[in-house]
Amino acid sequence: MTTPPQPDAAPRSDAAPWPATPGPRIEIPPAEQAARAAADPARPRWHITAPWGWLNDPNGLSVWPGPDGEDLIHLFYQHNSRAPVHDLIEWGHQYSADLIHWTDLPVALEPGPDGPDALGCWSGVVVDDVRPDGAHAPTMVYSGAAGRSTQVCCLATAVPGDALLTRWVKDAANPVIDAAPASTGLDLPEMRDHCVWRENGRWYQLMGSGIPGAGADGAQGGAALCFSGEDLRTWTYEGPLAVGDGDVSTTGTVWECPDLLRLPGPGGEVDVLTVSAWHEEATMRSMWMTGRRTGTRMEVDLVGRCDLGENYFYAPQSLALPDGRRIVIGWMQPNAVEARRLAVGWAGSMSIPRQMSIADDGTVRFVPVAEVRSLRTRRLVETDGEGPVRLRGDSLDLVLTGRLERVGDGVVIDLAVSVDGSRRTRLSLERAADPADGARGQGAWTGRLRLDRSASAEPGAPWAGEESAELSGPVPLGPCGEVDLRLLLDRSSLEVFVSGQPLSARLGVDPADQGVVVDAGALADARLEAWEMGESYPAGRLGAAPRACAQP
Ligand code: FRU
Repeated sequence: MTTPPQPDAAPRSDAAPWPATPGPRIEIPPAEQAARAAADPARPRWHITAPWGWLNDPNGLSVWPGPDGEDLIHLFYQHNSRAPVHDLIEWGHQYSADLIHWTDLPVALEPGPDGPDALGCWSGVVVDDVRPDGAHAPTMVYSGAAGRSTQVCCLATAVPGDALLTRWVKDAANPVIDAAPASTGLDLPEMRDHCVWRENGRWYQLMGSGIPGAGADGAQGGAALCFSGEDLRTWTYEGPLAVGDGDVSTTGTVWECPDLLRLPGPGGEVDVLTVSAWHEEATMRSMWMTGRRTGTRMEVDLVGRCDLGENYFYAPQSLALPDGRRIVIGWMQPNAVEARRLAVGWAGSMSIPRQMSIADDGTVRFVPVAEVRSLRTRRLVETDGEGPVRLRGDSLDLVLTGRLERVGDGVVIDLAVSVDGSRRTRLSLERAADPADGARGQGAWTGRLRLDRSASAEPGAPWAGEESAELSGPVPLGPCGEVDLRLLLDRSSLEVFVSGQPLSARLGVDPADQGVVVDAGALADARLEAWEMGESYPAGRLGAAPRACAQP
């Protein structure tokens, strides 16, 4: 089975930030990294970051009872505490009671010398392994990296009696799934990452991979390989759940971090597979596929881009909350050269947790969880939007609504505008021509969202981003051109949502450039609101207090 073509994705080829063979090991004392990170004005203040050092994929997103029996959300993440570079990956660990305020815990898992994870504890999940005596054993299912192209599946179990899950013991049976081809009979170029669930008394898991020859026209197609087992230690290969077409500009040749979930849709429950498309060391983008799963096979119907910001929302992992919402967190990659990352002591953040849903047109939509509103500290503006509105700030929640009544009408929001106006980062939303008959999914949307970072910084300025390509794509407008735009700016992290279609990016801007100009002149019944935002971490974690925003 191949996935249908996917609309409107521009080819992108950023190299993955970690080389296959690591260079000399870099080590900076934690206190030094933390001091540098605290002093960096580009570091987000209400997006999840590591206390210092490197951060990539979210892992082990799960809910467990805390010390007083309350629900705590645990987030583990790919982490290097020795330096802000991808090397000898550990699992960092934080928890939250509200998805917004987070507390650091010690590193939960680290590579074991001579073990199957000697070079890294790569991405995975935490599941509830209910033992024969009824005891619940939080269990990590993760990829052990040891220098081979395909990784192996390893387990670690939380030490009982420690409600904050700070101590973990690796399983004596590791690896429980060996590298390919021993585990699958297939000669695979890559294999790693895990999505694990229990169904009808059996465990199932997906691993990300690519199968040579399985895509369109004999291409290598990205694949989610399925395994099943009676327990978490003995697995049988069941074949691929889904295979991509291998298009190097859309679905890629390898899928990382597959995640399978189910959402209510307009016509009943929908199976959703998210994957991160990868090609020749380049982390391309995360994608969703909807369809119907029967056992260990999925028939894919519709495909779309999770985020128009491409790999600025990568390796998403989802979680079903006790209240029924399905949320997802993705990795917002760094956009700084290695020398600058070392100088500032941190690299990478998470996206804001996003609530997932299926819209009436069958597409997957993402909106910031409602709890984000609790971070609003001061209203900066509330207006019906006559003429350009000017404000200042680099920590904003902005909501813009109205109607773009004619094709070609648009709104422009300039961010990080310098005092002399020579530097700015421009977001524009335009009403595009109606789609061709028969267009489906994202291809049928009538809005076009664009982020232009070409004038974000002087070339060569220390804060300039490593890449500044335009990010763009289709977004849904209402039937009469209704616009529902939400913009979250947290220093270098930008997330924009138009009717639930996100565009994320990491900005490389001069921290002094804090002008914001909203030009919604072409928007009928325009309404603009904006708030200054607070912080997600306890006092002291982020260093100095945020700079005050001037009154608009
Ligand atoms: C995705 C990824 C995963 C891997 C991890 C290593 O960003 O490459 O496939 O497990 O990062 O840190």
